[in-house]
Amino acid sequence: MSGFTRREFISASAATAATAAAATAGANPAAWGVATLRQEPTAAPGASGAAPNLPVVIASSNGLGGPPARKSCVELAMELMLAGKDPLTAVVEGVALVEADPSDQSVGYGGLPNEDGVVELDASVMYGPSHRSGAVAGLQRIMHPSRVAKLVLERTDHCMLVGEGALRFARAHGFEEMNLLTEESRKAWLEWKEHHSDDDDWLPEGSNEIGKQAAADRNWRHTFGTINCCAVSPAGDIAGVTTTSGLSWKIPGRVGDSPIIGAGLYVDNEVGAAGSTGRGEAVIQICGAHTIVEAMRRDPRLSPTDACIEACQRIVDKTKLPRLRTKEGRPNFGVMFYAVRKDGTFGAASIQEGPEFAVFAGGRARREKCAFLYPKGS
Ligand code: GLY
Repeated sequence: MSGFTRREFISASAATAATAAAATAGANPAAWGVATLRQEPTAAPGASGAAPNLPVVIASSNGLGGPPARKSCVELAMELMLAGKDPLTAVVEGVALVEADPSDQSVGYGGLPNEDGVVELDASVMYGPSHRSGAVAGLQRIMHPSRVAKLVLERTDHCMLVGEGALRFARAHGFEEMNLLTEESRKAWLEWKEHHSDDDDWLPEGSNEIGKQAAADRNWRHTFGTINCCAVSPAGDIAGVTTTSGLSWKIPGRVGDSPIIGAGLYVDNEVGAAGSTGRGEAVIQICGAHTIVEAMRRDPRLSPTDACIEACQRIVDKTKLPRLRTKEGRPNFGVMFYAVRKDGTFGAASIQEGPEFAVFAGGRARREKCAFLYPKGS
């Protein structure tokens, strides 16, 4: 049963039911708190050559599937690890498939652009054995920001390069420049541009009247798609990557959680790894991925799922602004966390019920449901 022990699975179901019941009954889940999941510690990987849960790859849901012609991120990452590649190379090459896929409008080529119609990409990587990281932010015209982030880790003494400096670094390393805006993403941007306000001079096709273009029933909220992928090798070494085109229609220069070590990604080779997708501002403000890994370090029996739930709860508790809350007082945005321990146990959680995550473990790639704080429709 995936990376969970049967005992943990039952506890997780009970905990989910408990928080669901609290929410359904109108109780405040923040006051209710989070049921604590426990699992029996497993043998240290590599100690006797026996590491029953390894290797493992986890990712956000876009780590599995995609167009029929292409392999998925978790499949390629697993294949590379089994062929002897290190887990950092494995996850970076895994997400590269998604970065190159124009049908995923949240990552790389074909990502949704900023408010000026320019695609700006963010990515970070972290490698457990060396505890080194690399990141780029606001990178334009390069399809694979995660590969550039890996080179920042490998070929500089720095942790992050941004904007023009990141582009120059990519050029110096032979990356090809290209227009990342596909026709589909350009049209989506233009539609947003022409409809998001009725107080400007942009008119949609067929509209002759200024002030009439904003469709009140359209949801022009921004989107935050991203891919996070973390892996533990057969030897118990850990690596992770997070890569994104960030918030759609963002203010140029806006940087989310994905390239920020400790927010959208964190790896500790003694403990595990965590990453996130969703509203980056909320993740940055609780140091999401670091919070999860530190929670797992603090309590070696805390499951990755429960560590992710704790981080979701922290976001709920810290979301104070009325404009970011529903009428029930909950966050009106989505955040998902994904985590894996060094022993190969893994989990994911979302504030609201619904999202899934991708996993390749036990010789099988599949999607599993994220744990959650609030059931659908509550
Ligand atoms: N989590 C992606 C972003 O907020 O940019």
